[in-house]
Amino acid sequence: MKKINPFKPHSPVPTAMFAGRLGEVDTFETALFQTKSSNPSNLLITGERGIGKSSLLTLFKPLANGEIKSPDYEKFNFITLNSIISNGTSLVTFIKLIQRNLKRELDKEETFRKIMGSTWDFVQRIKVMDSGIEKPVQTSDPDLVIDDFSYSLAETCNRICDSDKGDKAKDGIVIFIDEADNACEDLQIGYLLKATTELLQQNGCSKVMFVVAGLNEVIEKLSKSHESSLRIFTQIKVKELRPEDRHYVVDRGIEEGNRLNEEQTTVSVDAKNHISTLSEGYPHFIQQFAYSAFEANTDGEISSDDVLSGAFNPGGAIDAIGSRYYAAQYHEQIKSDEYREVLSIMAESLNSWIKKSEIRDKFTGKDQTLTDALQALTNRKIILRNPSKIGEYRLQQRGFALWIKMFGERKK
Ligand SMILES: Nc1ncnc2c1ncn2[C@@H]1O[C@H](COP(=O)(O)OP(=O)(O)OP(=O)(O)O)[C@@H](O)[C@H]1O
Ligand SMILES: [Mg+2]
Repeated sequence: MKKINPFKPHSPVPTAMFAGRLGEVDTFETALFQTKSSNPSNLLITGERGIGKSSLLTLFKPLANGEIKSPDYEKFNFITLNSIISNGTSLVTFIKLIQRNLKRELDKEETFRKIMGSTWDFVQRIKVMDSGIEKPVQTSDPDLVIDDFSYSLAETCNRICDSDKGDKAKDGIVIFIDEADNACEDLQIGYLLKATTELLQQNGCSKVMFVVAGLNEVIEKLSKSHESSLRIFTQIKVKELRPEDRHYVVDRGIEEGNRLNEEQTTVSVDAKNHISTLSEGYPHFIQQFAYSAFEANTDGEISSDDVLSGAFNPGGAIDAIGSRYYAAQYHEQIKSDEYREVLSIMAESLNSWIKKSEIRDKFTGKDQTLTDALQALTNRKIILRNPSKIGEYRLQQRGFALWIKMFGERKK
């Protein structure tokens, strides 16, 4: 009989299967505690594609709203709001999103049902011109819109945190903003966040916390839109999971599988070591290798062979990882086989710096082609040029390098 596969390569990890990140959780809790104590702290979570940023937000949310108890503090009691930025999110859309989510959250509790009152009416008054041809253009002055937004947010937050609400009073509001690297120029994300945090304070509110997550490019976007916007954040750089955490992910998954399925499954230590080594600690690789090994298994014990055939068979883990994360970059953005050869050579050094001369030694094409390739790949941000050493380059993402290595090997 077909078993339900417990591993989650396609979605943020459920809290029960969440591994590692103790330091990150600690930083978050400290920030919650500070914010609750009127010393607002904002977090910026950055890291490569699939490293676990959204999963971290998925864990942070119940910690902040008290659905789960934090390890070091009593239960927190924040209102939490989720938002995801797309490249079409304008300032008005963003504010409407926050207003709607806030209303939805407050409507859940009798005490707060009418608390927003007319404070947010400005949202309806924001003028957006829709010519019907291009995307709608906002005509209200962004500074005024941000001012209204900050005032309304401050008012609402102060009301829900007011001690006259007794034990119903909230600790504050946490606003999660995921995929912030998508932010378009119009959103002015750096300016929006810097101005809002300052205006909140000026309006007597110090219990709102922003948690912004995105690929590393978000740093550039923030500072481009407001030079000192990075200063409002404590940064969390999400890295690979440690070997013991990788094993934990597999064990929790197997446990979950045995809860869901009548037919039980075990996993050998060797198989876990293989998943751990192949994944190099990338959470999405761990989930995918474990998922594919679970699928490849037929006898109830997942062995190293199951891991390997699940990984390398057509339609297996490596194919899946590639098509989800990297294939477009590799096949569509790069039209030339020679450029791909440059990437393969660079991938041997993963994402460490490599000299152009070292690439040239292995490259089979012409010198000019290599120069053009490095230029084009740098322009497309697939590789980086070392700002402090001339003639050194590296792949932007280690996960991409790993995939190129594995993909190349499979082709061989
Ligand atoms: N701490 C963790 N424990 C177990 N699995 C994890 C953990 N973090 C992430 N994963 C798994 O790794 C994969 C990628 O996670 P997630 O979507 O959170 O990454 P991301 O950094 O938000 O990716 P993207 O850049 O594509 O938005 C998912 O399959 C998720 O289930
Ligand atoms: Mg994500």
